[in-house]
Amino acid sequence: MNMREQFIIKGLGGAKRLEGSIAVRGAKNGVLKALAATVLFDDEVPMTNVPDIEDVKRMRELLEALKVEPTVLKKDIAEKFRASIVLTGPVLARQGKVEFPFPGGCVLGERSIDLFLNGFRAMGASVEEGESYFTIRAEGGKLRGEHITFPLVSVTATETLMMAAVLAEGTTLLQNAALEPEIADLALYLNECGAQISGAGTPTITIVGGGLLHAGGISYNTPPDRIETGSFAILAALVGKDVTITNCNPAWVDVPLALLRQAGVDVEAGKDVIRIRAGDMPYQMVSVHTHEYPGFATDLQAPMAVFMSQCQGEGSILETIFDGRFRYVDDLALMGADIVVMSPHRVVVRGPKKLSRKNLESPDLRGGLAYILAAAVAEGTSTVDNAYLIDRGYEHIEERLAPLGLDIKREMT
Ligand code: EPZ
Repeated sequence: MNMREQFIIKGLGGAKRLEGSIAVRGAKNGVLKALAATVLFDDEVPMTNVPDIEDVKRMRELLEALKVEPTVLKKDIAEKFRASIVLTGPVLARQGKVEFPFPGGCVLGERSIDLFLNGFRAMGASVEEGESYFTIRAEGGKLRGEHITFPLVSVTATETLMMAAVLAEGTTLLQNAALEPEIADLALYLNECGAQISGAGTPTITIVGGGLLHAGGISYNTPPDRIETGSFAILAALVGKDVTITNCNPAWVDVPLALLRQAGVDVEAGKDVIRIRAGDMPYQMVSVHTHEYPGFATDLQAPMAVFMSQCQGEGSILETIFDGRFRYVDDLALMGADIVVMSPHRVVVRGPKKLSRKNLESPDLRGGLAYILAAAVAEGTSTVDNAYLIDRGYEHIEERLAPLGLDIKREMT
């Protein structure tokens, strides 16, 4: 655990200096679900392009603990990250029972689990809420296929019930499912191993239940991380002279790239590569409206706010997914940004404003990365404390940004 580490970043004071290339790692929010899916298999699942991040370590610890107590998601581990909840589906489907605590993860406002519980109930399970654990039991030890319509779009609820349905009796229909590309990617892999999932990547997913899956040596290849791709593009637009982002899928960050182009950034996208060169300054202000995929990802909202602080004019961010995702705003304002919270869902940004150094503490994973971007733009040397939160989702970020010419180091506090 790296709770007591911080990053030290020497800001470029508005200069555009970064040059070179940076490779995107495997998607956190892809591989965590694939790790959970290993419970559905009767053999080992080989995996490639797995990022070396803290949340992957926690998921592996949870899977290890299941070898001792096959129906229990250990509280002290599951409370560290939200993705722990996706394990409930596969474990319940395989064992007929699962016990789990309320999942942890970034504090982004109310993050309920009603969609999961109602989905399990619909599939014939009972839900018991104890003091520190929920206990879910499938009637007769087996889930049954059902027609489930989600009242709102949820990424992890879609994934959890899709995985649970793979071992259920009969056919499950998920309506108003999330469209995130990691979901379709996982379904493709599960199908290669014997699952019968159709429609993943569309709002209607149909799963015909069956027996345990068999990898037979076929690997799950973790797709590139969309959020890392978008964050690097924003960093390059802010302080880059000529930066190439490799091992990515530009089609998955269409909307953020369109906004950067609209602002005046020189963006060139190939099949798996993005080249960003500084465009005419100052950039023109843009506005952002977060949305489920393929809209602008809420996970890129904080990094985009830093970008907007350097644009000319007035713009706004409408956050439509979470109601507590502006915890980074106060610090950005203290650094000199003109950014004002209008409501739990809306901020207004005016720019461009020079940022100055500050000692910062990551509020959450994506907010932490935004602080690194702000520190890179600012005048003077800043620190970003609570490195663990950034390490949850970004592999050795300092070792990867330094070769581009950013002066960033990690040290114990
Ligand atoms: C996933 O979270 C991602 N996490 C998040 O990334 C991402 O921000 C989010 O999707 C939106 O794209 C993982 O994949 C592990 P939701 P998730 O359920 O699935 C409400 C990161 O930094 N809701 O799609 O938890 C919920 O409160 C993280 O990598 C219910 O009301 O998000 C929210 O308002 C942060 N009841 C909305 O749905 C439920 O039972 C959408 O959230 C479930 C969700």
